[in-house]
Amino acid sequence: KATLADLAQRHGRYFGSATDNPELTDVPYTKILGHEFDSITPGNGMKWYATEPQQGVFDFTAGDEIVNLARANHQKVRGHTLVWHSQLPDWLTGKEWEADELRAVLKNHIQTEVRHYRGKLYAWDVVNEAFNEDGTYRETVFYKTLGPGYIADALRWARQADPRVKLYLNDYNIEAIGPKSDAYYKLAKELKAQGVPLDGVGFQAHLALQYGYPTTLEDNLRRFSRLGLDTALTEVDVRMLLPATEEKLAEQAQWYADMTDACLAVRRCVGITIWDYTDKYSWIPAVFPGEGAALPWDEQLKPKPAYFALRNALK
Ligand code: G3I
Repeated sequence: KATLADLAQRHGRYFGSATDNPELTDVPYTKILGHEFDSITPGNGMKWYATEPQQGVFDFTAGDEIVNLARANHQKVRGHTLVWHSQLPDWLTGKEWEADELRAVLKNHIQTEVRHYRGKLYAWDVVNEAFNEDGTYRETVFYKTLGPGYIADALRWARQADPRVKLYLNDYNIEAIGPKSDAYYKLAKELKAQGVPLDGVGFQAHLALQYGYPTTLEDNLRRFSRLGLDTALTEVDVRMLLPATEEKLAEQAQWYADMTDACLAVRRCVGITIWDYTDKYSWIPAVFPGEGAALPWDEQLKPKPAYFALRNALK
């Protein structure tokens, strides 16, 4: 029987899942992970706290484990993520930085990690979650110390370290056209005009039934395509208020299908990644108590209506 990856490949797309190192000892889990998907994103293992736990001391064990597994399963890997305000090591957040000092730290982090994975990854989420909901820059340590130019610098440094890997900006709540996605549109246009190496924009797509479906998703993806950029749905899940009812699961299935339709309708939407594939390992319940059931497989690794809706949408 054709897998989600097989079906996506017929459209020239990939279909991926996030995963995380502790899950890799779960044999039934890794069986589906290795079989159903042709792209993998490490959920935590390539983040700054994991890769540079002490300044200048790098540890790629977690990321390497996932890259090796993906290679054994003939899967691409989306690298996630080089520059983000969250999950930073204590040595970085625990002090005031001079601009020159932080610029050197950032450059070294990006280039050491990108060089380590050079030739092994399909894409990098170079800068993650750079904007606030209203489209202003998020006041991260990087923004406050270096100004908005840190984004172009990060992309250029990444490109120097790996000339072929696709370089992305990535964020949530940018699926619909609105202030936050407009900020990305404007920034992407400027970066392209300045010749900054940007290849794509990742739409995380952490949706929630109670907030409504982003009906402008397809138009939004298309306007980024027209800038000459790839787009991708990078962290898809559709959470709901628990308990999950048959009705909610049916609506969730429809949303997964609609997102897939939107991506398939836009030539440069290159693929879809779900933020892990089973409710067993979803990040949602820990962060949004009372919500969950967000993924296409349930906690027993049994496919839900969303899985069958994805299959239909890809047929
Ligand atoms: O590593 C510690 C472990 O030592 C400890 O025993 C355990 C107990 O709680 O916590 C572990 O750290 C957790 C870490 O994941 C690794 O499992 C953190 O508490 C937990 O907060 C962290 O959550 C991750 C989250 O990013 C942090 O913001 C999720 O797994 C990860 O899926 C999630 O992914 C993000 C994307 O990177 C960016 N977009 C949003 C997405 C969802 O938040």
